[in-house]
Amino acid sequence: MGTIKCIGILTSGGDAPGMNAAIRAVTRSAIYNGLKVKGIYRGYKGLITGEIKEFKTENVSNIIQLGGTILKTARCQEFKTPEGRQIAYDTMKKEGIDALIVIGGDGSLTGARLLAQEFDVPCIGLPGTIDNDLYGTDTTIGYDTALNTILDAVDKIRDTATSHERLFFVEVMGRDAGFLALNGAIAAGAEAAIIPEFNTEVDQLEEFINNGFRKSKSSSIVLVAESEITGGAMHYAERVKNEYPQYDVRVTILGHLQRGGRPTAHDRIIASRMGVASIQALMEGQRNVMIGIEHDEIVYVPFTKAIKNDKPIDRELVNVLNELSI
Ligand code: ADP
Ligand code: F6P
Repeated sequence: MGTIKCIGILTSGGDAPGMNAAIRAVTRSAIYNGLKVKGIYRGYKGLITGEIKEFKTENVSNIIQLGGTILKTARCQEFKTPEGRQIAYDTMKKEGIDALIVIGGDGSLTGARLLAQEFDVPCIGLPGTIDNDLYGTDTTIGYDTALNTILDAVDKIRDTATSHERLFFVEVMGRDAGFLALNGAIAAGAEAAIIPEFNTEVDQLEEFINNGFRKSKSSSIVLVAESEITGGAMHYAERVKNEYPQYDVRVTILGHLQRGGRPTAHDRIIASRMGVASIQALMEGQRNVMIGIEHDEIVYVPFTKAIKNDKPIDRELVNVLNELSI
């Protein structure tokens, strides 16, 4: 690939609040630096069907405050095949797109890594997912907004949990990562979090009950990370009904409302910083890296590292939750 004159931008996988702020930042920064920008619709699907449109600065006006993604998003099975990626590459060539900016989660960045590898296309990733499960960045675009949404919901559930003296299991998203559940629990003042990362270590329900549930409280809220590994909130509610029938249990599954809403200031700021950094990275000759933020500084994380699926849970957070839930 020679000099980069035109970049393509797409959002892929689960949408996340702040994706629009990132689209705006990438578009404006690219134009500021003399590059042409093409918006690709519906993630990798748009690269296969050719749903692509040139973006000028006004195409990204009045979007910084919006949740979702104006480029739409999709899960594209065809792109997972070498044949699908060949079509995507051919479309890029036809459209004159020299480099790709992909905003999405680990699946989307896996796709970008393969495209880059197979066709020598410069690709830069932005971590766009509420799950916060990408390695090498302290936070991802959408995570803070989702945490705040969880907080609002749990504050409301607490009113009824307290009044009825009930035990509530609140299921939150995260795919197989427990960041939303753990930090959501700390922020909401919940009694415990059940997360996939610790599932093989201990029986988290037993631990919660043995740690003195009902010693000083007549109601409790436990955040459960949705996951095949934990089995989700329903699984724990069933267990309590069978093993501790003295407790009055209820379940709330927060579901997709966690993915919507206006992005918080934090998400808008990191999306803007990461968007500008992605263009900077391309101009510096960086290839096949995800833009991350660590200790409040922009970092370049090789795709292979970012998507290796083992971003660790900070034990200090677990201690904080345990100590404060007595
Ligand atoms: P996320 O990016 O939020 O993790 P997904 O895992 O659903 O979401 O991935 C989004 C899209 O990225 C997929 O629909 C597919 O088009 C692409 N993708 C995911 N995994 C791969 C893979 N192993 N190879 C190629 N493309 C992939
Ligand atoms: O990756 C984001 C996420 O919201 C996960 O937390 C969740 O497991 C998944 O996407 C839900 O996907 P879908 O939109 O296909 O229901």
